[in-house]
Amino acid sequence: MNLVQFSSVSKRYTLGETHVTALNDVDFDVRPGDFVAITGPSGSGKTTMLNLIGCLDSPSSGQVSINGETVDSLGESELDRLRSRSFGMIFQNFNLIPVLTALENVSLPLHLHGFKRQQMRERAQEALAAVGLDCYAAFKPDQLSGGQRQRVAVARALVTRPHLILADEPTASLDTANALALIGLMKQLNTERGVTFVFSTHDDRLLRQVSRIVELRDGYLSVVRETPDRIASKSVANEAQRSEVL
Ligand SMILES: Nc1ncnc2c1ncn2[C@@H]1O[C@H](COP(=O)(O)OP(=O)(O)O)[C@@H](O)[C@H]1O
Ligand SMILES: [Mg+2]
Repeated sequence: MNLVQFSSVSKRYTLGETHVTALNDVDFDVRPGDFVAITGPSGSGKTTMLNLIGCLDSPSSGQVSINGETVDSLGESELDRLRSRSFGMIFQNFNLIPVLTALENVSLPLHLHGFKRQQMRERAQEALAAVGLDCYAAFKPDQLSGGQRQRVAVARALVTRPHLILADEPTASLDTANALALIGLMKQLNTERGVTFVFSTHDDRLLRQVSRIVELRDGYLSVVRETPDRIASKSVANEAQRSEVL
C-alpha cells in the first residue's frame, strides 16, 4: 500500500481579488522506504505539496490519502496522531528554540505523548546519537555550527520514530560540506532504519545523490528521474494493461 497517494490534487489560494493555483492536478505517490526529492524553482508549489502530505493543509480539489485512507475521512484525533507521531518535519531554518539545549529541543515532540521524564531523556539522547551529536546534548543552538543545528533538527524529527520525514529545503542554509553530510545522514536513516523521506530542494549538490526526483513547474508535476524498481513495476503494469487490451 502507498504511504501517501495524491489523486488529481489541486490547491488554490485566494488573496483578495487574486487567485493562485499552487498545485495543478497532481498525481503522486510515496511508498514505504522511498527517498524522494521534489524540485522546482521558488514559488513552484514545493512547500504547498509538503504541507498537503503532512496533513497541515487540505486540497482544494482531488484527494490525498495516507496509508490508504483519504485525509478528509480522518477525524481530528487521528490527524493529530499522524502529524505528531507518524510524520517528522525538518524546516529550512531549523526552528530550534534558542534557550533550550540540544537535548531539550529534541525531546520537545515527546511532551505531547505523555512520556515520563527519564524516558524522554533516553529517547532524545538516542536520537542525538543517531545523528552523531551525543556529545553535544547540553549545548544550546548558538553554541553549535549550522550543520550541527540542522542535525539537531533531524534528531527532533526522528525522536517520535516516525515512518515518514518531510524536509523543506533542508540544505538551503548549509555550506557544501554540511549539505553533503546531511544528505548522507538522511540516506543512512533511509537504508538502515527504513525511514521514508520526502524533501524539497533546488540544490544540485543534493539532487546528484537522489535516484527519485519529481519536478514542479508552476504547480504542474513531472517525473525527472525514477528508481529502477519503479520503472520495473510500471513496465509490469503496462504489460498487464496491454495483455488486457489484447
Ligand atoms: N498561504 C498562502 N496564501 C496565498 N498564496 C500562497 C500561500 N502559500 C503559497 N502561496 C502561493 O502559492 C505558490 C506556491 O508557493 P510555495 O508552495 O510556497 O512554493 P515553493 O515552496 O516552491 O517556493 C506561490 O505563488 C505562492 O505565492
Ligand atoms: Mg517553499
